Amino acid sequence: MVPAWLQLLCLFIPQAFPGAQPAEVYVDVPENYGGNFPLYLTKLPLPRKETEGQIVLSGDSGVAAEGPFAVDPESGFLLVTRALDREEQAEYQLQVTLETEDGRVLWGPQHVLVHVKDENDQVPHFSQAIYKVQLSQGTRPGVPFFFLEASDGDAPGTANSDLRFHILNQAPSQPSADMFQLEPQLGALALSPEGTKVAKLSVEDADAPGSPNSHIVYRLLSPEPEEAAEGRVFELDSTSGSVTLGAAPLQAGQNILLQVLVIDLGGAEGGLSSTCEIAVMITDINDHAPEFTTSQIEPLSLPEDTEPGTLVTTLMATDADLEPAFRLMDFAIEAGDVEGTFGLDWEPDSGHVLLRLLKNLSYEAAPSHKLVVVVRSVAEPVGPDPGPGATVTVTVLVERVVPPPQLDQESYEASVPVSTPAGSLLLTIRPSDPMSSPLRFSLVNDSEGWLCIEEVSGEVHIARALQGAQPGDMYTVLVEAQDADEPTLSTSVALVIHFLKAPSAPIPTLAPEPSQHLCTPRQDRGVVVGGPRGDPDLAGGHGPYSFALGPNPTAQRDWRLRALNGSHAYLTLGLHWVEPREHVVPIVVSHHDRVWQIQVPVIVCRCNVEGQCMRKVGRMKGMPTKLSAVGILVGTLIAIGIFLILIFTHLTLARKKDPDQPVDSVPLKAAV
Ligand SMILES: *[C@@H]1O[C@H](CO)[C@@H](O)[C@H](O)[C@H]1NC(C)=O
Ligand SMILES: *[C@@H]1O[C@H](CO)[C@@H](O)[C@H](O)[C@H]1NC(C)=O
Ligand SMILES: *[C@@H]1O[C@H](CO)[C@@H](O)[C@H](O)[C@H]1NC(C)=O
Repeated sequence: MVPAWLQLLCLFIPQAFPGAQPAEVYVDVPENYGGNFPLYLTKLPLPRKETEGQIVLSGDSGVAAEGPFAVDPESGFLLVTRALDREEQAEYQLQVTLETEDGRVLWGPQHVLVHVKDENDQVPHFSQAIYKVQLSQGTRPGVPFFFLEASDGDAPGTANSDLRFHILNQAPSQPSADMFQLEPQLGALALSPEGTKVAKLSVEDADAPGSPNSHIVYRLLSPEPEEAAEGRVFELDSTSGSVTLGAAPLQAGQNILLQVLVIDLGGAEGGLSSTCEIAVMITDINDHAPEFTTSQIEPLSLPEDTEPGTLVTTLMATDADLEPAFRLMDFAIEAGDVEGTFGLDWEPDSGHVLLRLLKNLSYEAAPSHKLVVVVRSVAEPVGPDPGPGATVTVTVLVERVVPPPQLDQESYEASVPVSTPAGSLLLTIRPSDPMSSPLRFSLVNDSEGWLCIEEVSGEVHIARALQGAQPGDMYTVLVEAQDADEPTLSTSVALVIHFLKAPSAPIPTLAPEPSQHLCTPRQDRGVVVGGPRGDPDLAGGHGPYSFALGPNPTAQRDWRLRALNGSHAYLTLGLHWVEPREHVVPIVVSHHDRVWQIQVPVIVCRCNVEGQCMRKVGRMKGMPTKLSAVGILVGTLIAIGIFLILIFTHLTLARKKDPDQPVDSVPLKAAV
């Protein structure tokens, strides 16, 4: 290691006038000194004779007292105890005096200026991390359009802060790798004439070099110089033969043929000339972002039960670039589809993108979807960022779907003998869920008119005699069930009727039921009618009986019958007023293919408030009438009278008779 004091750079100015004020001492200290400390800086010009007193070091702003400087009392050297940073403090002003203990100055003050010598320890910084510059078309090459700014913390005016600018890299490297030039000292950025140089012509003329005979000039023959405001597409330097771009804009895909004339004698008359052609093909760059043909499409409605995979809509995008590779597009749903309910499908080289449904829709979960679809160029784009045309908003409205009414069977079948009388109940069509909203039933195509259906209950009856129906035939009728609250919701079901042979025995008439009474005018009462008693099928509970009023039109008019359950029906008055008397109501009961007719006697009477009959009407069973009572009485009296007459007549004749004549010989007829 070199001794520390050897490294110091010092400037020593000798004391010119002894006794006068000593001249200032100037010391340079290297910044960030990396050697040993203390570093001896300079020997101070202390007087030799003054051995008493002590050396006092002070500085501007009082730094020196506890600062990095000190004076070695033995050698009289000024020393520094640690490394100095120029950017923290570049200069230190110190004063050295020799004083007695009571503060009397024996020598000095000696001024010392310590200068920290800069080391290149500061990194240059640009004023911004990213500069954005817009360049208009037609910017001339070589004319600065932007100045870069950078600063350096090292000592100004020294090599350490003298900056130079360089272009490290240009991306993309199209259309030319050296599109720009940068003035290294000023940071001036300009288009480089090279990025616009199209061709350099080289011509040889064998005549003596330097003579007019070999002085050649170039002229552009074609395309003709245009007078258009935009100027020319190409410029030709007449002396160098460089072809550069002119001010007129280029169109990708253009093919331009340049014709150049070269002539010697400096272009003067009589010069020899030849021509050449330069074919220029203007290639495309990916400077157009793809755009949708529309930014917003009309809201689309999709029923809630739309099958996943269904096409929702087709979107179209275009790209103004010419090169097929620059027209390739990428699509994505950018917003509005967190659940992944929708998806996109496209052919790589087409501008059509298909928006499809991928999952089930749910009106409850989301009654509408607002999707933002974005299109991007597959190739790295050059030029401005994509504009608003890069997205399209698709609004999808979900339509609620209410399922149609459900019936308790998928189809209905019944078998009836062809002799079944009108009014017989065939079957009842019911909703599968009894709690669902009420239904309205109707027959769609009962072309024969054989059936009728009760709109509300769904009971299907035989409407008229099944004339023309052949045993073994089938008759299919569609039944429509509509939701009473929402008539657009409906379902239809087939009802198949199989016709059977009429039973060979005549319809048995069963024993009459004990009669019951009903009030007229009609009150809220009816009569329960049971199935045929003693029927073994009924006892075994096999299948339901169906009840219907007999085919008698009066009975059909006066009475109503409805099923209670599988074995009983309920009979009520069909009219408000029915004549008060005893009625016998014919009722047809059927069970599978068996049919009975029963006669139900009902007494219709006027009633009191308790609903009891007020007057006995007609001959009631077991109750003698007045007439019959009188008849019986008179008959009895006549019989008694005749009997008495017979007795008295007999006694009178017996007294008058011959005692010899026997009693037996008297003729009987005489007794009458
Ligand atoms: C979508 O709906 C259909 C018919 O309603 C159903 O069968 C299927 O399970 C549903 N799929 C999902 C994932 O919920
Ligand atoms: C009623 O329509 C159904 C279904 O179209 C058909 O099968 C049936 O034969 C039709 N019935 C009559 C009586 O036309
Ligand atoms: C049918 O209803 C009648 C009258 O209400 C009742 O007496 C009978 O027990 C019921 N039968 C069945 C099987 O419910």
